[in-house]
Amino acid sequence: MTATAEPAELERRFEEVIAREERVEPRDWVPDDYRATMIRMIAQHAHSEIIGMQPEGNWITRAPSLRRKAILLAKVQDEAGHGLYLYSAAETLGADRDELTRKLIEGRQKYSSIFNYPTLSFADVGVIGWLVDGAAICNQVPLCRSSYGPYARAMIRICKEESFHQRQGYELLMTMMRGSDSQRRMVQDATDRWWWPSLMMFGPPDADSPHTERSMAWKIKRHTNDELRQRFVDMTVPQADALGVTLPDPDLRWNAEREHYDFGAIDWAEFKRVVAGNGPCNAERVAHRRAAHDDGAWVREAAAAHAARRAERDGAA
Ligand SMILES: [Fe+2]
Ligand SMILES: [Fe+2]
Repeated sequence: MTATAEPAELERRFEEVIAREERVEPRDWVPDDYRATMIRMIAQHAHSEIIGMQPEGNWITRAPSLRRKAILLAKVQDEAGHGLYLYSAAETLGADRDELTRKLIEGRQKYSSIFNYPTLSFADVGVIGWLVDGAAICNQVPLCRSSYGPYARAMIRICKEESFHQRQGYELLMTMMRGSDSQRRMVQDATDRWWWPSLMMFGPPDADSPHTERSMAWKIKRHTNDELRQRFVDMTVPQADALGVTLPDPDLRWNAEREHYDFGAIDWAEFKRVVAGNGPCNAERVAHRRAAHDDGAWVREAAAAHAARRAERDGAA
């Protein structure tokens, strides 16, 4: 789209691209709100991937076998990769990656509330794979059709890797459930602690979700928070049965009329507390990320010095 066209004409062409289900690409004209919404969404997603390395990373040195350690290392490294693709996608919209990192470590930009809970046993590694990566897949598969091209394409690869994460978690839990009584108790305990926070991953109820309507209209999002939450519950209940664990919700039951599972009320006060920065691990997770950023300062300085010297040399040549 040429920059010389009238604003109304640019707006019309943008709306047309959205209506035709085509992708918006980095050099295309977009409304300021679309750019801001997209940057916010991608940045929060990137931050979630990076902060999300910590709860499980906590168990790498204590994995019970070499095999479990190798799987967990690969999984946590995947999450780092997801963060990097996503920061790059945000850069195609003109966001500055340094600025996004600063916003994260200064607590000015959010990440998924789920990563503010502690990992108390190795069963948490399995339950995070099963429920947290499972919820992430529900959220992200429709984003492969998101209107912003670089984000939609990043999501395709990310979803493939999230499926591996979900499977490795479920396989770990299956193994533990075939083990001792105390291992089965660990799996049940981890399920009890992660179930409700996993349902909160889909965000506030639709009636209370300020960005949903706009994001749906722009085809950034394809389904509402409540639709995706229902899909996740319907998918997960049979998996819990197969595993032999009880989901901690006395109101959970099949509704033949709706052809969906009904489930109990979510504690939105807890969600708001955690999102506002007062969850069990918010301070620790951000402090850890800040320390890692400070520790990496010498690498950034060295890379910048190397680039400057190379530019100088190329200029001289
Ligand atoms: Fe991920
Ligand atoms: Fe994952």
